[in-house]
Amino acid sequence: MDTKLLEMTARDLVAAGKGILAADESNGTMSNRLEAVGVSASADTRRAYRTNLFATKGYEDAISGVILFDETIRQKMPDGQPIPLALSSKGVHPGIKVDTGAKELANHSGEKITEGLDGLSVRCQEYFSMGARFAKWRAVITIGDNKPSDACISVNAHALARYASICQEQGLVPIIEPEVLMAGAHNAQTCYDVTARILEATFEACRIQGVHLPGALLKPNMIIAGLSCPNQITREEVAKLTVDCLTKHVPHDLPGIVFLSGGQSDEDATAHLNLMNAMDIVHPWELSYSYGRALLANALKTWASGEHDESQSVFLQRSRMNSLARTGGWRLDLE
Ligand code: 13P
Repeated sequence: MDTKLLEMTARDLVAAGKGILAADESNGTMSNRLEAVGVSASADTRRAYRTNLFATKGYEDAISGVILFDETIRQKMPDGQPIPLALSSKGVHPGIKVDTGAKELANHSGEKITEGLDGLSVRCQEYFSMGARFAKWRAVITIGDNKPSDACISVNAHALARYASICQEQGLVPIIEPEVLMAGAHNAQTCYDVTARILEATFEACRIQGVHLPGALLKPNMIIAGLSCPNQITREEVAKLTVDCLTKHVPHDLPGIVFLSGGQSDEDATAHLNLMNAMDIVHPWELSYSYGRALLANALKTWASGEHDESQSVFLQRSRMNSLARTGGWRLDLE
């Protein structure tokens, strides 16, 4: 394992004022999102939308890395340059989603296990040779009656650690993503407790499997009440509970935490991160973003209406707002 390379890449991904763009929607998810804004989905429209984003001037000041899907890492920019090379020539690290999706967990109705470990080492080698320097694996944890089960926590933690170990052996920084979903009527304390459980299990599995934490990143949810919970908490409470949960349950030798947005509004995702970074405490890790929808939802709608330059401006503006949130320097009036 090249620990120096991994540590350097991980630190680069959470460099001051920067975060990650998650543009790794699977073909199915990206197609649904395109169809939802009236665009007929194909490899070509998925490529056209994404290459327009990657051609945005100046986004590299706020975006350190872009997570790609397998189809995209093999596609080219309009000038014929392979997408991963176009990203790295701007100083943006290409990343790759390497899981093959969350599938039904046997004998646990309504729960999921993320698959993709078989053949992962060989796939990582190929992605590295194509320019990828980091990877993502997303586990999905659902809150509900008697959920998550111990089985769901245990198998997903194990898979996350196995994935992380395989990636590191092949030179890719693993982003470890145990996502506790926002769907449900649970309150924020339940989200806190479940998040603590999956984090403890994941880092224990990482310890057993020898994952080198200074060369890895964590991509967690924030602590938020379920979408249909009547008792929503304030932005300040989200920030405080999230920092509290992470400080207690995430090892401090990890270089960075890059949040997912998970369906939060653009502004909530930015405001929450800003509040965490504005606290009067020095956090043990960088607190940054690896947002998909919170960076791209409006850029996609704008692109679909045919305004391609404007779509780039919308993406750039959201990236800059989140870049400011890295230091607590975001303000509503800058929106
Ligand atoms: P969202 O920010 O839209 O949740 O996407 C981030 C991501 O990569 C989920 O796996």
